[in-house]
Amino acid sequence: MLIDLKGRVALVTGGSTGLGRAMAERFAASGADVAILARNPEPLAAAEAAIKKAGGGNAMAVACDITDAAARDAALAQVMARFGRVDILVNNAGASQRGPIETVSRAGMVADMDLKIFAAAELIRDVVPGMKERRWGRVINVSAIIGKAPDAGSIPTSLSRAAGIAMTRALSREFAPWNILVNALCVGKIKSGQWERRYAKSGSGQSYEEFLAPIGETVPLGRIGEAEEFANVACFLASDAASYVTGAAINVDGGLCPVA
Ligand SMILES: NC(=O)c1ccc[n+]([C@@H]2O[C@H](COP(=O)([O-])OP(=O)(O)OC[C@H]3O[C@@H](n4cnc5c(N)ncnc54)[C@H](OP(=O)(O)O)[C@@H]3O)[C@@H](O)[C@H]2O)c1
Repeated sequence: MLIDLKGRVALVTGGSTGLGRAMAERFAASGADVAILARNPEPLAAAEAAIKKAGGGNAMAVACDITDAAARDAALAQVMARFGRVDILVNNAGASQRGPIETVSRAGMVADMDLKIFAAAELIRDVVPGMKERRWGRVINVSAIIGKAPDAGSIPTSLSRAAGIAMTRALSREFAPWNILVNALCVGKIKSGQWERRYAKSGSGQSYEEFLAPIGETVPLGRIGEAEEFANVACFLASDAASYVTGAAINVDGGLCPVA
């Protein structure tokens, strides 16, 4: 199926590396104008160049910590000044935060919710009036399978991911009358900056692929996923082709999650 996003504007948080960058490139390749937000300028600039190359043009990157409301407002104002609207919002920025409960602080739990839930909800709040006016919108909340199948040592991520799925479901019903579709994508194990950092920390002396191989063996499909495979699903959800899909939390996990 050829996905056509021409004339659409997509905003991807955490679009500088990993899954966010892959989605931004895929959207651009499908014809969308794409804006990305993240904190570190260097990967942002590299991603902006790659997105421009993938789509032949309209891409912008804004350095911004999305948990800083004033910085986020200013970033969104820049996106609106350049593109005039947001049709597709992808709440993707995130980081793995988990450990035994004895290691979890209140501040850590609040920070995790702040990034993955409150900043995402506030961005939705800020772009949805325009979507309502145009009676077309797509919100994709990147979540994780841990939100459906909580595991040991997974606080606070289990909490924020379950909350993200609940937010998706609630807003899908709230926005349905305006043809604004809200879905979550539940990630299993997919190559990204997170895995590159874990590999670097491991100091294992193995190649990256050797390091990932035993992790991939825990997945029914027998391998860790590629960011492009994730981006393909997001691109479908962002398009007209997904016109009857809302309120779903779709696993993109090679069959790993025990819960559908
Ligand atoms: N890959 C997996 O196997 C996996 C599994 C479960 C869930 N996920 C989720 O998938 C999403 C994408 O992560 P990834 O795996 O692609 O990892 P990644 O490569 O580390 O990407 C994370 C992105 O989020 C940005 N970010 C982090 N904190 C931010 C903040 N406060 N404000 C703005 N941007 C911020 C990062 O840029 P800066 O650091 O420069 O800000 C980066 O662009 C995350 O929500 C992650 O939790 C991934």
